[in-house]
Amino acid sequence: MSITLGASILAADWSRMGAELEELESAGIDYIHWDVMDNRYVPNLTFGWDMIAACRKHTTVPFEVHLMAHETERDLAKYVAAGCERVLVQPEAHVHVHNALRVIREEGAEAGIALNPGTPLSMVEDLLPDITTLLVMTVNPGFGGQAFIETMLPKIEAARALVAERAPHVTVEVDGGLKPGNVAAAVSAGARAVVCGSGLFGPEGKAAAIAAMKSGIASGIVTA
Ligand code: DX5
Ligand code: ZN
Repeated sequence: MSITLGASILAADWSRMGAELEELESAGIDYIHWDVMDNRYVPNLTFGWDMIAACRKHTTVPFEVHLMAHETERDLAKYVAAGCERVLVQPEAHVHVHNALRVIREEGAEAGIALNPGTPLSMVEDLLPDITTLLVMTVNPGFGGQAFIETMLPKIEAARALVAERAPHVTVEVDGGLKPGNVAAAVSAGARAVVCGSGLFGPEGKAAAIAAMKSGIASGIVTA
């Protein structure tokens, strides 16, 4: 079973983002997860499509953008043009989220839904044919470095069961507070893609951090 590991660059050194991406690729990361925050849907403010486009030439690994932003429809084409192969939106932030997913696909990218800890899984049931990724948030969106919310494990299991029954093409992804010590539980519960932010930028270096995460992921597969 192949489970992918993505890097949230919230914890990177933003003054040298291009080099950070090159190092992540050399260290074996599977994809980059760009956390866009609009200072409205969440209190934090990060970056937009121009930042992502400027970094695209530094790596060939896939880009996924996680839009923690209101009413993204008018901006979706810009994120795809910036080089994002996959675009995830938050359903609570859209009046017409089905329409946002349609725009993403028409622009040529894969579409996904990110569910906050307090957003029920039922929110995505009618959208399964329109997405390839179902992201179960394991922290409340807004900041990196938060603690993994353990009570999300049954939700990951339920997400896994839902897609197994109704949409086997959909990947269940987890994001928030994932570390070598807890990622096995998330994988065992059904995660098939894992986002890691602060866990990848510690003093041990990216290669060691990625190896530790992949080892944790592998041990979760054994018990899956
Ligand atoms: C939270 C973001 C996550 C998170 C990942 O708002 O969507 O991507 O920052 O970073 P860590 O692994 O530090 O929680
Ligand atoms: Zn994220």
